[in-house]
Amino acid sequence: MTDLVASARAAMRHAWAPYSNFHVGAAIEAADQKVYVGCNVESASYGLTICAERMALGAAVVAGARQLTRIVVTTDVDPPAAPCGACRQLLAEFGLHLEVIAVGPHEERRWTLAQLLPDAFTKETLER
Ligand code: THU
Repeated sequence: MTDLVASARAAMRHAWAPYSNFHVGAAIEAADQKVYVGCNVESASYGLTICAERMALGAAVVAGARQLTRIVVTTDVDPPAAPCGACRQLLAEFGLHLEVIAVGPHEERRWTLAQLLPDAFTKETLER
């Protein structure tokens, strides 16, 4: 856990957030204990901004990881910021059992993705 928080905080230091000045780091752990990180990257064309969580998810997927167990999201705010709706939805691709841990300067909050995204629209929905 401490390692995962350290990885997310290290990624957060590379956040490109000149417009919001809100820096976010994310570290995803896969079943084989490998860790994939991301930070938010903003654009002068604001709507193109990508969140740290989706950046980390992309890094995991491109490396071939599919079984994801935990994601740590770090910010500079307490209570710690939870992933946005778009990130929750994309993370749901790889299972609602994902443990989500939000870490601020002093506080920590934990959920499962199922708790953060009730009645999720998933690939099972498409199979019905
Ligand atoms: N942001 C994230 O990186 N993750 C989230 O889940 C919510 C928001 C970023 C996007 C933008 O760069 C900044 O935080 C302020 O919205």
